Amino acid sequence: MTHGPAARVDTGRLWERHQRLARHGATSNGGVNRQALSPEEFAAWREVIAWGRELDLAPCTDRAGNLFLRCAGTDANAAPVLTGSHLDSQPSGGKFDGVFGVLAGLEAVQAIRESGMALRRSIEIVAWMNEEGSRFAPGMMGSAAFTGATPLETFLDIRDAGGISVRDGLAALRAAFPELPSCPLGRSVAAYVEAHIEQGPILERERYAVGVVTGIQGKRTFRVTVRGEEAHAGTARLDERKDALLAAVRMIHALDDAMRATDDIVKFTVGKLDVTPNAPSVVAGTATFSLDLRHVDSTTLASLGDRIPAMCAARAGPCNVEVVELTRAMSLAFPETMTSVIRERASALGIPVMDVFSAAGHDARFLHAVCPTGMIFVPCKDGISHNPSESAKPEDLAAGARVLAETLVVLANR
Ligand code: HGY
Ligand code: MN
Ligand code: MN
Repeated sequence: MTHGPAARVDTGRLWERHQRLARHGATSNGGVNRQALSPEEFAAWREVIAWGRELDLAPCTDRAGNLFLRCAGTDANAAPVLTGSHLDSQPSGGKFDGVFGVLAGLEAVQAIRESGMALRRSIEIVAWMNEEGSRFAPGMMGSAAFTGATPLETFLDIRDAGGISVRDGLAALRAAFPELPSCPLGRSVAAYVEAHIEQGPILERERYAVGVVTGIQGKRTFRVTVRGEEAHAGTARLDERKDALLAAVRMIHALDDAMRATDDIVKFTVGKLDVTPNAPSVVAGTATFSLDLRHVDSTTLASLGDRIPAMCAARAGPCNVEVVELTRAMSLAFPETMTSVIRERASALGIPVMDVFSAAGHDARFLHAVCPTGMIFVPCKDGISHNPSESAKPEDLAAGARVLAETLVVLANR
């Protein structure tokens, strides 16, 4: 074990902080429901900002509602190194998705501070706004706006199920943190490293505590809206109905069959279905559903996604259908300049690592377009995530934070 920052990573402190944050949005079944721009997320911000203040980390937030905690380097003019992930969760999320990346960043910076090392570049711990995209679709709004992939204005009028807009949510954030300094949206970044649980079974199965992430698979998401006509369940003839729900069911069934016929690595999910008026004795007037399509191979992803509008239209019957693409992101490979640093630092610590390709999406996708970007994975139990039973081991979280700390030292002095 070196006597650099890694030796000062505190397994207990890192674990305890996960348990503390899990209280914000805790659900009765041991999971977390901490929606983007919600009071629960603001409570988690308060804890993280307070932990940062103990280390003299200067907090700020940008117009997109991203949170930054800055550990100043010796060269104030040098572009910073960023590390972090997200604090929002899925409605039935777990304690570690996203949170590990923010807390591993905090732990790494605390260990660097306690080691007395002075680094050239500042290190900024970041919590991106709305990575999960469950309250406001699409996800990854904060990192997309920060990197200029999507103008923030594009997101502001998107509303949640209760009619609250992203603009309203950001106003609530500012009202909750009136004293928090502002920082510009989008700044030069020297490098970005995101630590995250794998959300898959490979590291646990292969018995590795740490994985070097080689890339992220491509993802396309859509919103499909079917419009029919509300009618009386007892009087409307079947052959005269414009039943939006039945049309949506036909579309979903056909899409699922087509995706399954492609190969056994495609991922296709219809996770959300809203019906109006959603009443047992009324023929559905509208049915709106989500499509989440992912594939490692970008050509396959492009061709499969391109088939969706026609497949829906062909099954609309007397209804009409609108297919809107929300996300179109091809597979990416992280640069060798980043994966090699992570591998080499892990080796110096005597921590065996294996390469892992990420099937889940991450904010690192957007940072990859603007700066050298890498990711560090740690295992989660049975690969389960986006589920209340998501869990991880304290020693694996600490191993990931150790590799992160040493990687950040290299990047901050580059
Ligand atoms: O959906 C994803 O891949 C990420 O976990 N939000
Ligand atoms: Mn995540
Ligand atoms: Mn997630």
